[in-house]
Amino acid sequence: MAVIIDGKRISQEIKDELKEKVERLKADGKNAALAVIQVGNDPASCVYVNNKKKACAYIGIESLSYELQEETTEKELLELIHRLNEDEKVHGILVQLPLPKHINEDKIIQAISPKKDVDGFHPENVGKLVIGEKGFVSCTPAGVIQLLKRSNIEIAGKNCVVVGRSNIVGKPMALLMLRENATVTIAHSKTQNLKELCRTADILIVAIGKPRFITAEYVKEGAVVVDVGIHRGENNKLCGDVKYEEVFEIASAITPVPGGVGPMTIAMLMNNCVEAME
Ligand code: GUN
Repeated sequence: MAVIIDGKRISQEIKDELKEKVERLKADGKNAALAVIQVGNDPASCVYVNNKKKACAYIGIESLSYELQEETTEKELLELIHRLNEDEKVHGILVQLPLPKHINEDKIIQAISPKKDVDGFHPENVGKLVIGEKGFVSCTPAGVIQLLKRSNIEIAGKNCVVVGRSNIVGKPMALLMLRENATVTIAHSKTQNLKELCRTADILIVAIGKPRFITAEYVKEGAVVVDVGIHRGENNKLCGDVKYEEVFEIASAITPVPGGVGPMTIAMLMNNCVEAME
């Protein structure tokens, strides 16, 4: 039976540390503001954006809300970003993804000043992660590292399999585990013998976007399992990429869904905002 890695508790711990830090920075006359841009009103994005604004309020960071219509042009969005890049009162800029289809996401990400890129999506920040320089790191993978470290799970020297190769999660996740001296393999939809490969993992990190895909057969006895997925399953219940009840029985530690990786993403966004402020 596994120990449950409590993302809710750990994210709260991080937010409380940041709140104290922001209070000290404010006493020194420093203030932080995060510009949050949403284009259109995708229901999931509305929930995420609201949670981000709530976290800002809790920590003491001002959030500047830009709720733009679905029909907003790429040019208009670029103009807003250029304006915010120049605005000294704004420390972080977050453009909620996905964007409407008529807007090129890569172009938008690249328009954000790397110094204000609190999502860590800009190629300059991704490049810094690759070569081990300090820069903003994508929030979800950074949150996974914090979950492991704050649960006293040893990373150095361990075999880590990351299932998924997205720019936002899989790739930065693998690079962060490498930075922590794990031996890292990235698996994806074309990987052969996925089951056998996953069973070599001491730490299995799953971000494939397929509900309850990873069964007990994919997991080595005593492995640590981190589930980055989030889906609405049967009866509208939330579930991850891992078949939790089954894997719980053989893993040594596991993140639940909800209450595992999810809350960590926002905590790490707040961490990046405080770094931008500093
Ligand atoms: N959409 C889903 N996840 C994210 C995220 O981490 N940042 C942004 N900006 N959009 C997202």
